[in-house]
Amino acid sequence: MKGIVLAGGSGTRLAPSTNGVNKHLLNVYDKPMIYYPLSVLMLGGIKDILIISTPEDMPRFKEMLGDGSAFGIRLQYMEQKHPDGIPEAFIMAEDFIGYDDVTLILGDNIFYGQGFTTLFRNALRNHKNATIFGSRVKDPERFGVVEFDDNQKVISLEEKPEDPKSDFAAAGLYIYDYRAARIAKQLPYSERGETEITDLNKEYLKGNQLDVQLLGRGFAWMDAGTHESLFEAAEFVKITQQRQGFKIACLEEIAYYMGYISRHTLYEKGEGMKKTDYGQYLMEIANRKHTEQYWESIDKNPLLELVQNE
Ligand code: DAU
Repeated sequence: MKGIVLAGGSGTRLAPSTNGVNKHLLNVYDKPMIYYPLSVLMLGGIKDILIISTPEDMPRFKEMLGDGSAFGIRLQYMEQKHPDGIPEAFIMAEDFIGYDDVTLILGDNIFYGQGFTTLFRNALRNHKNATIFGSRVKDPERFGVVEFDDNQKVISLEEKPEDPKSDFAAAGLYIYDYRAARIAKQLPYSERGETEITDLNKEYLKGNQLDVQLLGRGFAWMDAGTHESLFEAAEFVKITQQRQGFKIACLEEIAYYMGYISRHTLYEKGEGMKKTDYGQYLMEIANRKHTEQYWESIDKNPLLELVQNE
């Protein structure tokens, strides 16, 4: 399984904040926005990840995340010159994907909640053809909307419809087989001058090859693409972290629990940032006893248990 984080675009909905900096480098409370989607791919066990962003912003992503080895993953980078549509990611990544399956996550999407890791891992394990994730929202007209029957079989998909057929948005997380690139090449341009991920999904739907996984009440899914939603996301992260005492999307913590980096490395990372709450958190985890016996097996991973049981 390959992973892609799409972190380009023009960020016009976040101007003037994005006039000089890429949206996905903005903070969501105590860490850059891109940490959140990256953490989802890592929790899914995906290690080969391509980050797509603009030519102007690419150096900053590279400086921040490097080749991924600090987090025990392999990162590659590709420049998207114009934001011509989400499906373009697959065309650009065709060689990177090869004949593997691929998970795409949008760089401004945040997922959190009870059992999310388990649900995502099961979706990766059981995936055939194409899988999308549906989440109930108050404002479906802002999103791709998915309509399904009582057996959770998808009936229709629409991109930002004026009159939505359901309250379920298609979240910015998609799993496809290797054909995604080939199908993406044949998609038409929409009225907003882009190819649409919803059109790609419709192609799979035509062949009866599209599954939807629903994120129930216990899940928080947010896109942080407007001032309002970015602020709400930051508030959510702050309150949740403060109440529960652990961090959301802490890449070093995930890398440690996944067994990708050692306790010593984790401690050193924390020490390097010890004036911050983030750094102290890493040091505190590294100092906890009884961790090794857990992360010997992914299923007994304490982080996953927390995500499942909180
Ligand atoms: O957030 C979920 C929604 O994302 C889905 O429900 C919609 O079906 C899907 O079309 C998308 O809608 P948005 O209008 O929010 O997409 P947006 O243009 O904001 O792009 C989403 C992210 O992808 C954003 O972080 C920027 C990045 N992007 C987008 C395009 C079109 C790129 O990096 N390159 C692109 O060419």
